[in-house]
Amino acid sequence: MRVVVSIGGSVLAPDLDARRVEGHAAVVETLAEEGCEIGAVVGGGGVARDYIGAARELGANEVQLDQIGIDVTRINARLLIAALGPSVDPKVAHDYEDAGDAIRRGDVSVMGGVMPGQTTDAVAAALAEYVGADLLVYATSVDGVYSADPSTDDDAEKYEQLTGGELVDVIAPMSRDAGASAPVDLLAAKLIERAEMRTIVLDGTDPSRIEDAVLRGEHTGTDIVPTGVDGEPSYWTQR
Ligand code: UTP
Repeated sequence: MRVVVSIGGSVLAPDLDARRVEGHAAVVETLAEEGCEIGAVVGGGGVARDYIGAARELGANEVQLDQIGIDVTRINARLLIAALGPSVDPKVAHDYEDAGDAIRRGDVSVMGGVMPGQTTDAVAAALAEYVGADLLVYATSVDGVYSADPSTDDDAEKYEQLTGGELVDVIAPMSRDAGASAPVDLLAAKLIERAEMRTIVLDGTDPSRIEDAVLRGEHTGTDIVPTGVDGEPSYWTQR
């Protein structure tokens, strides 16, 4: 089974804590030992936001701010690589070809951002499509996709299951509201819909939840299931 795991910066490195990074690396290693081929995409989190805020005050333009964000995601990617054993490609992949080559060689590949104007949510979706992943998992700090931001709206309801098209419809209005936080960004949702990519959005603060979701399909987040797909994938039903 080929899987792309997107680990938000606020999940992997809300602060610099080697033990937390180690916990996520241990899960990636377990998945690899269980026979998964893995691409991991790492976000920038609060550190990226701090750098971007400071650079904005200093007059940097939006592309320069994105470039700073990309650099931070790549530093976080280096942290994860440092914690992973010999089966990881020691280079942070800067494009999908390099990541795909590493995964085909049997290495775990770790990426951060790739280009301005998007977030690592979109990188993960594009990588998943590029390498023909069976499953894309977003390990975020929210436990799924909600009808509104659950941190500010008490009426927000969690979706257990959506199609790719429904995901786009839910995310699109959230992306229009300044400051609103969608669990995955709109470009990522559109890529998931276009690729008909089986996707899970879950709370990844406890990395064991990623393992349960990938190996057994067990989670309490949101399943994004392509239209017309019936039943569970065979890699779960055969276990
Ligand atoms: P993140 O992917 O971490 O953004 O990229 P995020 O979704 O705001 O944060 P978390 O990690 O989920 O909490 C950080 C920043 O890096 C730039 C953007 O400015 C983004 O906000 N970035 C990242 C890019 O410009 N291109 C990329 O491909 C990735």
